[in-house]
Amino acid sequence: MHTLVVIPGDGIGREVVPVAVEALETLLPDLKTVEAEAGWDCFQRTGSAVPEATFQALRDSGAGIFGAVSSPTGQRVPGYRSAILQLRQVLQLNANLRPVRSWPCVSHRTGVDLMILRENSEGLYSGREHWESEGVAIAERVISRGACEALARRALEVAKARKARRITLVHKANVLPVTCGLFRDTCREVLEGEGWAAEIDERLVDLAALQLVEQPEAFDLIVTTNLFGDILSDIACHWSGGLGLAPSLNWGNGIALAEPVHGSAPDITGSGRANPIAAILSAALLLRYHWQKPAPAKRLETAVENFLREEGKADFGFETTQVVRRGILAAL
Ligand code: NAI
Ligand code: MG
Repeated sequence: MHTLVVIPGDGIGREVVPVAVEALETLLPDLKTVEAEAGWDCFQRTGSAVPEATFQALRDSGAGIFGAVSSPTGQRVPGYRSAILQLRQVLQLNANLRPVRSWPCVSHRTGVDLMILRENSEGLYSGREHWESEGVAIAERVISRGACEALARRALEVAKARKARRITLVHKANVLPVTCGLFRDTCREVLEGEGWAAEIDERLVDLAALQLVEQPEAFDLIVTTNLFGDILSDIACHWSGGLGLAPSLNWGNGIALAEPVHGSAPDITGSGRANPIAAILSAALLLRYHWQKPAPAKRLETAVENFLREEGKADFGFETTQVVRRGILAAL
């Protein structure tokens, strides 16, 4: 029996997460769910963006789904740190999976089916940022052998699950020879040491960005560092048809947190326009990779695919959340 920690968060997180949970409950009738809090609203009420009870619930269950959180943009609020960054760092959710594929009718291009696996806990997002002197600010980029090894081992799991024909390491080792060099060499050692049959190639991050625009079909599994992966996966997500269709999985040792890529979307909160497909597809990633249940994962993705093919669109105006919810639950 599986237990799922449900963290709706702020804004449309509260509208899309319940739909994904309903889909999971349909597929796994004995699923147990536990509600937990995180986010800006939670911070304003409790003084903490992620209460200890939320961390503990995730440690106990090993799996969760997170909607989105709002953040106080452009201002520094004393004591506030981004909820999702805290969750990733404290729970050591050190890999992030971002698949991008073409969906019927709604995608801007056919034939795209790629996966970006990015390091999720260090790099330029380590939180080591400070003022060096008046007018000079420094951010440190942390790359550790341990995190690269863990990432490469994840890459092998993903490559086997999706029968990848190629793994592309994306870096910028020509200008960052120490940090990117460590990333590239460590990943290669692990991948080659395991005797992986697929091709292992490399790309500098700027060229990879261009090729993701020009010829996304050329990629299969991309493995990269935190900031590069963040940017590349948003570029690539364009091909799936936009943020409402982009899922992700934060994946650590024994704990995984499904998370639609989009934010809390204050511009449409409460209007009924939020598309729950990204959250639903994130639940499918949790099923396939963390719970190792490829059959229900496939059922969920096929339901999404059939729904989009039949309807021919993903935007139903103010009815979007409910139309997609009914259509996908009916297709399961
Ligand atoms: P956003 O992803 O919330 O919205 C960008 C645009 O896409 C908006 O026009 C929105 O209406 C639309 N959109 C997003 N998800 C959609 C969906 N499921 N269905 C239909 N349309 C959708 O990004 P934005 O506006 O930059 O940020 C809003 C808030 O969310 C900010 O406070 C930001 O800090 C936070 N945020 C949180 C993230 C997280 O929790 N992981 C990620 C990104 C932003
Ligand atoms: Mg991003």
